[in-house]
Order: sequence, then C-alpha cells, then structure tokens
Amino acid sequence: MIKVAPSILSADFVNLQRDIERVDKGGAEYLHIDIMDGQFVPSISFGPDFVKAIRPITNMVLDVHLMVQNPEHLIPEFAKNGADIIGVQVEATQHIHRALQIIHNNGAKAEVVINPGTPVAMITPVLHMVDQVLVMTVNPGFGGQKFLPETVDKIAELNELKKKHGYDFDIEIDGGVNDQTVVPCYKAGATVAVAGSFVFGADDPVARVNAIRNATK
Ligand code: DX5
Ligand code: ZN
Repeated sequence: MIKVAPSILSADFVNLQRDIERVDKGGAEYLHIDIMDGQFVPSISFGPDFVKAIRPITNMVLDVHLMVQNPEHLIPEFAKNGADIIGVQVEATQHIHRALQIIHNNGAKAEVVINPGTPVAMITPVLHMVDQVLVMTVNPGFGGQKFLPETVDKIAELNELKKKHGYDFDIEIDGGVNDQTVVPCYKAGATVAVAGSFVFGADDPVARVNAIRNATK
C-alpha cells in the first residue's frame, strides 16, 4: 500500500488546523507543504514560519517541497522549524550535491525533485545520498492540474536503479494524483503519493486518502 501525503496547498486556509487534524486522524503518513517563491514557479505560498506553526499540532512527517530558485539559504530555517524531509528541485540549483549535503547537515531527510521535462539521468550522480526522490507528475506551481502519464516511465527507471544499486529511497509522486492515476505509478514503484485537490477538494478528505490507499492494495 502506498503512503499518502495530503498537500496543504489545497486545504482551507481559514480552517487549516481542522483540515490538518482530519487527515492526521485519518491516517495520512505525511503532510506535504509546497513552498513557492514567485521565481522558480509563478506563485507564492508559504515560508519557514508556516512550518514552525504547524509542527506542534501534528506528528505527521512534514514533507517540505521547495519550489524555490537557489534554495540553499532557506534550508537551515526549514529544518530548524521542524521539516522532516526537505526536497530541492534539481533545476533550481547549480549545486544539487551541495544542497542535499546542507539538508543532511541540518538534520533533515534529503529529497531531490525532477520536473516532467527533466530526465532521471540528471540525478543519477546523487541517488546514493538521497532519502526520497520526487517525480513531478505535473509541471510545478499549481494544484488541480492534470496528471501527465509520460512521467510513469521515470518512476520505473528509478525503481530499476534502486534494485540494481541497493538504494532504499522512497519514490514520491506529486501532481494530478487521484485513485485512478496512482495505480500505474504504484505499479511502477512509487511509494508515496502526494494529493492536494483530490483530498481537500472533497467533503470527506479521509475517504479520499483511503481511496488512494485502497487503489494500491
Ligand atoms: C504542484 C504542487 C503540488 C500540488 C498538488 O506544484 O507541488 O504539491 O499541491 O496538487 P494536486 O494534487 O491538486 O495536483
Ligand atoms: Zn508539491
């Protein structure tokens, strides 16, 4: 069964604590937090204080996805404020190896993220040092976009590399994930599914978390 990471970007910001506690009690393993800087992606979302505010109200794994140009300088504060996993986009830094080192040096788990147009070959030199790889299944920047099926081959490619080299990183998917689109990703080797609009766009978010799980039993 896949682990589920509801994306807070699609939650009701006026009732954030209620929405977080719902999916927490409903058994979601991760809470996915999208950080957007208006540069790497057009939108702006949250900063490190947001993670600080959430940390005391949940024990879920805080999975922080930095859609930020040159993210290195922000990593220490996100780690200090309680991020468990910090993801950096390979396209957003000239020093991906160093960025991943900085994450580990600050006590968090390190994730590398690739956009739909970025091949797995871009990240093979750092796969030995990551705890998680995020394969974007839409172009980043917005919730509610349509899943891109051409990204599934990259999940399978990463899964082969895991087997070949004995790596044990998680493979996460993010964008357009629902109880249908998760199925080919899970079969290809995805172990964590981010879902925003599918979970929080429903009257019963927990039923949606369970629908993703049940589709991957
Ligand atoms: C997109 C973000 C996603 C977003 C997913 O740039 O990285 O985490 O919240 O939203 P859905 O599940 O609605 O595509
Ligand atoms: Zn995300």
